[in-house]
Amino acid sequence: MKKNLLLVLMLAAAIVFGSSAMAADGNLSVIQPVMQKLPAALQDLQARSAVKDYFCTAEKFMDIARMFKSLDKVVPDGGNKAKWDEIHNNIINTAFRGIGACGSKDDEGIKKAMDDLAKERDEGHKLFIK
Ligand code: HEM
Repeated sequence: MKKNLLLVLMLAAAIVFGSSAMAADGNLSVIQPVMQKLPAALQDLQARSAVKDYFCTAEKFMDIARMFKSLDKVVPDGGNKAKWDEIHNNIINTAFRGIGACGSKDDEGIKKAMDDLAKERDEGHKLFIK
C-alpha cells in the first residue's frame, strides 16, 4: 500500500517538475533563435546606413521589428509579462521610427533609432537575463 502511495507521489512529482522544465525550455527555444540573429541584423543596419542606402536600411529596421513581433507571446521566467510587452513594443516602435527617418533621409534620426535599439537591448537584458 505504502509502495503504491510512493509510486503515485513520484509520478506526480515527475509530471509537475517535468512540465515546468518543458515550459522554461519552450520559452528559450522561442527567444534564443531570434536573439542569435540580432547582432548580425544590427551590424547590417550599421553597414547599410553608413553608405546611406536608405531603402536597405529601412528593410533592416523592418526585419528587426518583425523579429521582436515574433516574441509577442513570450511569458518571461519570473512572469513580468507587462514589462516584457512594454520593452519589446518599444523596440518595435523604435524600429518604425528608424524606417520613418529613412523616408526623409534623416541620418541623425537613423542614428538616434540605432542608439535607442542598443539602449532598449540593455534594458531588456538587465531585466530578463538572470
Ligand atoms: C536589438 C536588441 C537586442 C540584441 C542585439 C540582443 C541580443 C541577444 C543575444 C546575442 C543573446 C544571447 C543569445 C544566446 O545566448 O544564444 C540574447 C539573449 C537574450 N535576450 Fe536579447 N537582444 C536584444 C534585445 C532584447 C530585448 C529587448 C529583450 C527583452 C525584451 C531581450 C531578451 C533576451 C533574453 C531573455 C535573452 C536570454 C535568452 C537565454 O536565456 O538564452 N533581448 N540577446
